[in-house]
Amino acid sequence: MPQTKRAKITAVGHFLPESRLTNHDLEQMVDTNDEWIRTRTGIEERRILKDKDKATAYMGIRAAEEALEQRGIDADEIDVIITGTVTPDYLFPASACLIQKAIGASNAYAFDLSAACSGFLFSLTTGANMIESGRAKKVLIIGADKMSSILDFTDRSTCILFGDGAGAVLLEASDDETGIVDYVHHTDGDTNNTLYQPAGGSLNPATIETVKEKKHYVRQDGRTVFKKATVGMADVSMEIMKRNDLSAEDIDWLVPHQANKRIIDATANRVGLPSKKVMLNIQKYGNTTSGTIPLCLYDWQDQLNKGDNLILASFGGGYTWGAIYLKWGIE
Ligand code: ACO
Repeated sequence: MPQTKRAKITAVGHFLPESRLTNHDLEQMVDTNDEWIRTRTGIEERRILKDKDKATAYMGIRAAEEALEQRGIDADEIDVIITGTVTPDYLFPASACLIQKAIGASNAYAFDLSAACSGFLFSLTTGANMIESGRAKKVLIIGADKMSSILDFTDRSTCILFGDGAGAVLLEASDDETGIVDYVHHTDGDTNNTLYQPAGGSLNPATIETVKEKKHYVRQDGRTVFKKATVGMADVSMEIMKRNDLSAEDIDWLVPHQANKRIIDATANRVGLPSKKVMLNIQKYGNTTSGTIPLCLYDWQDQLNKGDNLILASFGGGYTWGAIYLKWGIE
């Protein structure tokens, strides 16, 4: 019989490459400076996966293995693996399939989910719906991106923003009131290409010209994206709080996508939360796209108490944005 228990996070894992790219390193590469990057974005350094033979799946594998170890279960207990990413190892097969094989999740089916910076949130609610329906018992949600693989390190307007990294969480049915309570997701198709990778897809397959024209890198209209993200993340956070009758005092933690400290501050202000209740690690990792939110959960897990009210919020390319209200379920 399908059940309707909430889905809760029962373990968290992560992976960050060792190699650090600091703002001072970037000063040697493009016309920028540490002060500009810190004041405009909040970023001080980011991690870069330098090994030529390693990519998104590698980071996802490491994060997944850590989550399974934390929970103390074998990979063959996993029913589904969903990997939020815009930098899959290949266009196909999905990085989730590579992860499935490498960790030995022999009973799981696996797929990638493409929603840019909202990839982790959209994956989390997709997995939560599977748990709530009773169709799956254990779902592994991974957010992983090797952003350095699609960055033009001669373009100062984009290369300073991103880093590589991955996080993973395990979802299972909750026996109590903890778990994912509600979510709001939105999309507004960006037909003006304000944030995209022009080539490599079916519209502009790779050619010598697309490579020469640097069309395989992230391109964005930073100011437009900044405005949309600031409004979108704040609005959706308010939306989920209002419909769950939550005031700022009820929220223990805001877990925002880490794109720009100014976007995060604007969201926290709008919601009315002091900075001590806002997870912020952008200074260490930059924007790891699907990795940011699970990496926050990983970094803060020791400070989280069972029953804490968390608002997870994101905005990203697509445009895709959303928020999740969850009650933390780990003791
Ligand atoms: N170093 C020094 N100067 C720079 C740099 C740099 N790295 N990059 C741009 N500038 C210059 C510009 O050329 C411009 O100079 P000008 O006034 O002479 O023309 C000046 O700085 C101001 O540029 P703006 O683009 O207006 O700067 P802004 O304050 O908007 O900051 C930024 C730019 C950081 C990109 C910001 O717009 C932003 O964060 N946008 C959101 C983009 C984003 O997060 N994308 C990620 C994916 S989406 C998501 O995750 C939400």
